[in-house]
Amino acid sequence: MSIIDQSGNAGAVAAFYDMVTDAFSALFDGSVHAGYCGRGATTIVEAQAHLNEEVFDGCSLRPDDKVLDVGCGVGGPAMHAAQRHGVRVSGVTLSPQQAAAATAAAERSGLQVDFAVADMVSMPFPDASFDAAYAIESMLFHVSDKAAAFTEIARVLKPGGTLVVADYALSKPMSPEDEAIAEQALCAVPLVPAEQVRKTVEQAGFGDVEIRELTEQVRPSARMLVDTVTERREELLAVAGEEGLAGATESARRYTGMFVLEQDYILLRARKA
Ligand SMILES: C[S@@+](CC[C@H](N)C(=O)[O-])C[C@H]1O[C@@H](n2cnc3c(N)ncnc32)[C@H](O)[C@@H]1O
Repeated sequence: MSIIDQSGNAGAVAAFYDMVTDAFSALFDGSVHAGYCGRGATTIVEAQAHLNEEVFDGCSLRPDDKVLDVGCGVGGPAMHAAQRHGVRVSGVTLSPQQAAAATAAAERSGLQVDFAVADMVSMPFPDASFDAAYAIESMLFHVSDKAAAFTEIARVLKPGGTLVVADYALSKPMSPEDEAIAEQALCAVPLVPAEQVRKTVEQAGFGDVEIRELTEQVRPSARMLVDTVTERREELLAVAGEEGLAGATESARRYTGMFVLEQDYILLRARKA
């Protein structure tokens, strides 16, 4: 079965990230997400690293744990986890360009990380093969069938394994027009409120669900993101061309205006029963 047959928008998500990989790689240090500004970050790269640490703290990582990165981007968070916490990480992304960039970076690093092109609703891993899993701005933002994704993550986690999700939850309803813009510009699916996410996670076989709101700490990263795109305009142009620059500028504008500054940011932690 091709990836495009699985999640409804998988082909569009893959094409979107294939298109923006060069531009995002030039701007960031391997992470493609908002930043956490509650630990004194002054740049977007620092704030993204701090968000990664919030996620890893939630996962309670121990050296040699086998960890799954669900929607891994170009592998920044996975390499960060492997380097700082001595864990082994496998990541999946829909984008062949991202998987190739992440694999090349992994080979250069010598860290215990590997990446594959796969849909999170049907992953190429045996049952109960991971101690922990995390999903940063991949599932709640991009996947309509969240029940299928949580059920698949539960399948590959060991009993007692931890799941952490850092992502947006609906706080203000979006108009159908804005939902259409978010889908077209960012491949975003309609967000759902945090309490609905909690129910879906519990129905998929997780317990001890805790949800922390990080909205206040994440919102200041909107300004950092927009400033970075403006300040690094020439560099972006050289790496990604006119089309890449226009795509990155438009993505940053829509992403910050419609999500970072408007919606809730949550850190969900749950344990597989
Ligand atoms: C905003 S990027 C975040 C990347 C990474 N988590 C990070 O924080 O740097 C969203 C990622 O989710 C992935 N993604 C979206 N839907 C997916 C799906 N159904 N299966 C696997 N990956 C998916 C995309 O391919 C992309 O890598």
